[in-house]
Amino acid sequence: MKVKKTIVLLPGDGIGPEVTRAAATVLRECAQEFHHEFDLHEFPIGGAAIDAIGTPLPNETLDACSKADAVFLGAVGGAKWDSLPVGKRPESGLLGLRKGMGLYVNVRPVKVLEPLRGISPLKPERLGDLDIEIVRELAGGMYFGERGNTTENGVERAWDTESYSTPEIERIATFAYGRAENRSRRLCSVDKANVLMSSQLWRRTVVAMSGVYSSVKLEHMYVDNAAMQLTLKPSQFDVMLTSNMFGDILSDAAAALVGSIGLIPSASFGTGAPLFEPIHGSAPSLVGTDSANPVGSILSVTLMLRDAFGLSLEADWVEQSLHRVLGGGYRTADIAQPGASTIGGSVFTEMLREEMQRTLEHAERYGWGV
Ligand code: IPM
Ligand code: MG
Repeated sequence: MKVKKTIVLLPGDGIGPEVTRAAATVLRECAQEFHHEFDLHEFPIGGAAIDAIGTPLPNETLDACSKADAVFLGAVGGAKWDSLPVGKRPESGLLGLRKGMGLYVNVRPVKVLEPLRGISPLKPERLGDLDIEIVRELAGGMYFGERGNTTENGVERAWDTESYSTPEIERIATFAYGRAENRSRRLCSVDKANVLMSSQLWRRTVVAMSGVYSSVKLEHMYVDNAAMQLTLKPSQFDVMLTSNMFGDILSDAAAALVGSIGLIPSASFGTGAPLFEPIHGSAPSLVGTDSANPVGSILSVTLMLRDAFGLSLEADWVEQSLHRVLGGGYRTADIAQPGASTIGGSVFTEMLREEMQRTLEHAERYGWGV
C-alpha cells in the first residue's frame, strides 16, 4: 500500500538540525524504496525561530504542524538564549507546540538494544531484559500551571503550581492502560500521593478506572522510590504512567540505564497530528563535531512509520538494519566503550542507509518482510 503524507520537520537548535537530517534521510529512503510520497517541509522553532522571527513558535510553524500528517522535532534550547525569561525561551516554543497541537500523551520506550548491552552502567544481572514504556502526561501539571513571582519587603518569591483535573488524568491513564493491555499487562502509576493533593487525585482516578482494565495488574509507586527501583531493578517495570514533571525526570534516568540518552525516541499523541522527537536536548557543546547520536532520531522515525502511518514493514526494515549497524560495532562517541574507535553521526546515518539497501537485497536471508 502506497501512502502520501505531509511531514513537518522542526530542526530547532544545537544538534537538532543534525539529527533531523538523519531522520529526513531515513524518510526519503523509505519513500523511494516503497513508492510512498512523503512531502517534507521545514519550519523554524525554538532559538532558531527567536533569531529569525523574534518568537520561539511562529504562527506559520504551528499552522503547518496542525495541517501535517506528522511532525518531527530535533531539539530546542541553548546557552545563547539562557538569559531570556520563562515564556520567551526556546523551550516555550516546544511547550507551546505541544499545547497548541493538543498533544497530551508522550510515550518514551526505553529498551536495551542487544548490541549495546555492554555499555549500560548497570551490571548485567541488574539490567536484565529492560524494556519499558514511560507514558508521560504532556499537556498539564507544573509545566502549564499557574506561576509567577513577587517581591515583598525586598524578598523575592517565585512559584509554579502542579494541578490536574480528573479528565486530564483519565485521558492519559486510558492511553497507559491501553498500552499495558498490549504489552505485559503491568501498569505502574508513579505519584507522590503521600505529600501532594494532585497526586492523591491522580491515584484515586487511576484506581477508579482499574475495573475496566481487569487484565492489567495495577501498581502504585512514589516517585522517589520509582527513581531508586529504576536503578536497582528496572526490569520489574512494563508501562510506567507519570505526570508531566515526573516523566521528564524519570525518562532521563531510564535512558541512562541503556547507555545514552541519545538512543531514546518518543511519540506524542493528542487531538491532532502526532509529533515524534528524540528525548535528548540540543547539546550545544557537540555542534560542529558531528558526534551527535542519530539513533534516538531514527527510532523516532520508526515510531512515526508504525504508529502514525501504519507502515510496520517499513519500520521493521529501518529497525533491523539499525540493529545490524550497531551489531557491526559502529558507534558514535556517546555509545562507544572507552578507547574504542568512533564514527560521526552523519557517517553512522550513511552506514544505516547502506545497510537498509542490503536488507532489501537480502530480505529473505535476513528474515525481513517474509
Ligand atoms: C524533554 C525536554 C523538554 C521537557 C524541554 C526541552 C522543554 O526536557 O522533552 O524531555 O522538559 O519536556
Ligand atoms: Mg527532558
